[in-house]
Amino acid sequence: MKILGINGCGWLNVAHDASAVFLEKGKIKWAVEEERFIRQKRAYDKKPFNAIKFCLEKEKVSLDDIDIVAFSWNWDKYLSKRLHQEYESNEALLNSFFPKKFFSYTKKPKILKIEHHLAHASSTFRCSGFENAAILVVDGQGEYCSSSIWVGKKDESISKVWSNSIEESLGFLYSAACRYIGMRNGDEGKMMGLAPYGKPQDTTITKISKFRPRLIKDDLNRRDGQMRPIIEQWIRFFEKEFGSKDSTKISFNNLEGSMTKNIKFTKFQKDFAASVQKYLEIEVIKLAKKAVNMTGSDNLCLAGGVALNCVANSKILENGIVKEMYVQPASNDAGTAIGAAMEASFMLEENRSLEKLSSVYFGPDYSNKDIKKLLDSYRINYKKFRDISKICAELLHKGEVVAWFQGKMEFGPRALGNRSILANPTKKDTWIKVNKIKNRELWRPFAPSILFEKTENYFDIRDNFYFMIIASKVKKDKIKEIPAVVHQDKTSRPHAVYQNSNKKYYNLIKNFEKLSGIPVILNTSFNDKGEPLVCTPKDAIRTFFSSNLKYLAIGDFLIEKN
Ligand SMILES: [Fe+2]
Repeated sequence: MKILGINGCGWLNVAHDASAVFLEKGKIKWAVEEERFIRQKRAYDKKPFNAIKFCLEKEKVSLDDIDIVAFSWNWDKYLSKRLHQEYESNEALLNSFFPKKFFSYTKKPKILKIEHHLAHASSTFRCSGFENAAILVVDGQGEYCSSSIWVGKKDESISKVWSNSIEESLGFLYSAACRYIGMRNGDEGKMMGLAPYGKPQDTTITKISKFRPRLIKDDLNRRDGQMRPIIEQWIRFFEKEFGSKDSTKISFNNLEGSMTKNIKFTKFQKDFAASVQKYLEIEVIKLAKKAVNMTGSDNLCLAGGVALNCVANSKILENGIVKEMYVQPASNDAGTAIGAAMEASFMLEENRSLEKLSSVYFGPDYSNKDIKKLLDSYRINYKKFRDISKICAELLHKGEVVAWFQGKMEFGPRALGNRSILANPTKKDTWIKVNKIKNRELWRPFAPSILFEKTENYFDIRDNFYFMIIASKVKKDKIKEIPAVVHQDKTSRPHAVYQNSNKKYYNLIKNFEKLSGIPVILNTSFNDKGEPLVCTPKDAIRTFFSSNLKYLAIGDFLIEKN
């Protein structure tokens, strides 16, 4: 069966991370996020037209060849038809997501609307390789809840055993805290990075634990979801308890948020970030324990936007609550397109294979021929190398920073060695240098890529290290070897690279190890501030020439800026 999984819709604030996935016999063949094509981070309020087109074109099929279209929201459950006629019938849905100006078709595929948290749950469990597991979903909100626990068994439907209210949303609390300290909507990862610079305050944590926003009937009928009333109540509460700050003035109409400039964070703001982070960790641990107790399984699968909090994830492991854990690498809503498609496959397909997902290279790729044609048309000077990994390793060893564009683009929020900016992690000042190149705040941390077989020599982590999704303590004797990728709290978010998953990138690190004795490089996403990951060679070239990057390795070509 050919299945398209789709996330995204057109309502302000509700929908983000629009994405499309093409699944055949239970196997992901293509998966891509709309933000990469439209160059708007997180694709708020968008439908994934370009992402769908990409999947169909890559497979050389049209909608007529698709058996099932699976959506990652069940609108029937969520909104009254009066409010959303656009989604009233399957016909209306098809017209809305496959407009005739972009898509032509004569047959109608089967339509499935999968409950949002079930799509998250499926995205992690059906990619985990576990026979059975407790599944924990924590995000801003689904149709009716903000956290949920599910039982996953290999050949059975995933069943819900618990959920809480939207008012309890940990995702919205964290977003509100972000805005309160002056960060933008979508800067949750940045606040997690700020937290180790502050100290958690017990009084702040206690006050937060005692407050809950309340939704009235009008809030529940809002066509744009419940995020706004919840976040507004949290911010009013923060202002009442901890004082009003200029930087907290928020604008919901501007989804980019109110603050776009670099802020010098005060001690109060750092402590506040640390307190909210600590509170989140406490609550996530409680939920993980609940999941294990209610399901009787000590394998845990995580998904939902909050599962991108790699520090909270690491606390679950440190706590010894579970034996094995799997975190969906695209735990944000982009991953629900995977979950919707996989659940559809589970429900309607007999010969499906659901294997452990251990890489996320499902996006566009470009041949050397394509790249050369483009470089020639721009009259850009380049050199072609038989072994681009070797030459780049030499540059990194000399202390140069290299933009690295290779193979299929990553699905999910992390650059995992195909659309990356790379640097030498052995000198602390690389940290500042790369932040300057990326126009980021100088305090923001970087993650390491490491040869898979050397991971345990450097980090206190035994698994779950393929996707930069879990933080890990750095071994004491290694901190001074790789200071540019060790955060304030002596942790890192490692990305273990094994040869079969990404040969070219593996070879680069291996070559760097031969020169330096260190099997680790600094890896950060190839993009400019506020932009999504580069997608096409054109994006890469534009970003390269508008930045202070000196080297771009694109396919087998190296471009050096004078
Ligand atoms: Fe979600």
